[in-house]
Amino acid sequence: MIGAFPAPDAARSCPRAKGCQEYFGYHSLTVAFMIIADEFVISIFQMRNPFLIGDRVYLRAVEPEDAPIVAACNNDPSVRVSFFTHTPLSVALSAKRIESYYQPGADYIPFVICLMELDEGAGITALHRVDLVSHAAVFSVCISKPEHWGKGYGGEATRLMLKYAFDILNMHRIQLHVWTGNTAGIRAYENAGFTREGCLREAMAHDGRYCDFLVMGMLESEWRARNPASSAIVVDRDAHRE
Ligand SMILES: CC(C)(COP(=O)(O)OP(=O)(O)OC[C@H]1O[C@@H](n2cnc3c(N)ncnc32)[C@H](O)[C@@H]1OP(=O)(O)O)[C@@H](O)C(=O)NCCC(=O)NCCS
Repeated sequence: MIGAFPAPDAARSCPRAKGCQEYFGYHSLTVAFMIIADEFVISIFQMRNPFLIGDRVYLRAVEPEDAPIVAACNNDPSVRVSFFTHTPLSVALSAKRIESYYQPGADYIPFVICLMELDEGAGITALHRVDLVSHAAVFSVCISKPEHWGKGYGGEATRLMLKYAFDILNMHRIQLHVWTGNTAGIRAYENAGFTREGCLREAMAHDGRYCDFLVMGMLESEWRARNPASSAIVVDRDAHRE
């Protein structure tokens, strides 16, 4: 069972193992290994149905019981302000919608962002309008509780989603729209490698004023330049020749 999970990620997520390595140094690898193994088993059982595993967060499929997280992203006044949602979303309707996710051909692919340390669903991230002809999609991310903001979770979820888009879905371009007043979002996206491509002036109305939105984008080539260890799909046109 342990072999079915990537050991380096689980070990990296374990502060106790890191501390042990620092304390004992390289001569006590056996002790460190035992503690890593112990933490590793705990990490496995704490992660439920993981799809993509990072250092401090993992992404998993959205389940009907995650409806309160989805609803919070749309309802909580401090969260929805940067999403510009203007209609409340009930938990019941949210649960019903979740049941229809992941149908074959669906162009909306959401994940729950889970905090490993707290074993808690902390938000939703998604690719929207996934276009398998142009190999393009629109990205979104939302950490649903303000007390979790500014801790690097949104940035890490963004990087995991870019890996999903380029390495797994074979996307060519990922883009997003972000309100120019959303400083944390813009910073998290630039840290992940997105480029500011333009400005949609007065694109949406909010609190009695029209607001500008940045268009930010990333191409597969730009992502690969930042992540050289990642695997591109290579077409070997000569493979059939002797
Ligand atoms: C936007 C959001 C996803 C960012 O996630 P997060 O976990 O808070 O972001 P991170 O901690 O990974 O990174 C935020 C960055 O912005 C910086 N930052 C945060 N608040 C800031 C502010 N008021 N001014 C300047 N920089 C700020 C942080 O220092 C960090 O940059 P650094 O790593 O270079 O120091 C999250 O705040 C959120 O979900 N907000 C509500 C919904 C939303 O706005 N979604 C995006 C819609 S486009």
